[in-house]
Amino acid sequence: MTAEETLAQIAKEVTVCVNCALHHTRKKSVPGEGPATAEIMFIGEGPGFHENEQGRPFVGAAGKFLDQLLAQAGVTRADVWIGNVVKCRPPENRDPLPEELAACDKYLERQIQAINPSIIVTLGRFSMNKFFPGAKISAVHGQMKKVGERYVIAMFHPAAALHQAALKPAILADFAKLPELLKEARAGLGKSAPVMKVAEEQADDPKQMSMF
Ligand code: URA
Ligand code: SF4
Repeated sequence: MTAEETLAQIAKEVTVCVNCALHHTRKKSVPGEGPATAEIMFIGEGPGFHENEQGRPFVGAAGKFLDQLLAQAGVTRADVWIGNVVKCRPPENRDPLPEELAACDKYLERQIQAINPSIIVTLGRFSMNKFFPGAKISAVHGQMKKVGERYVIAMFHPAAALHQAALKPAILADFAKLPELLKEARAGLGKSAPVMKVAEEQADDPKQMSMF
């Protein structure tokens, strides 16, 4: 199976998944979305009201703010993969329970293996804890660490920064560092920037292009 086919297969599975109690109250599960070739994966917490309605990640107020943060880093949604640690909405947006996180983790693990990103950006405590158990987000946010075959950076959750003005400068500064961190991650992993075809007529003269 290609990475793209694996992602499509996972999306199909979570649509009908009944592996934890969250399936009882979900409207639409939210598998996550983005290209199978994404160099960066953003991992949030779980679907909220609007995500549950639409089946897409980060489409509510936090998503609007995430779009601004991405734009500031010179990234568009089309460049990156965005998803969550749980694929179904916790009722009333409560925190996901340990057993729900455990049940849903196998989907996220398969997504990470399929995409094999250079960088994972965790948004909020629950995705941070997957990679840095017991870490304090206020202490580690914005610091890139190698975890296995890739780099992981914890950042505040955009919804937290929307509601607590004091966190906004930190999340802005952390996102602004992304282009530089991606260069560092590529160097550390011995990967080069992806080669992209600019236009059909330039097919004979491919240019080394980077989104940064
Ligand atoms: N908050 C999240 O953590 N994920 C979403 O998809 C939307 C809001
Ligand atoms: Fe399945 Fe994850 Fe949804 Fe639970 S949250 S029902 S494990 S897809």
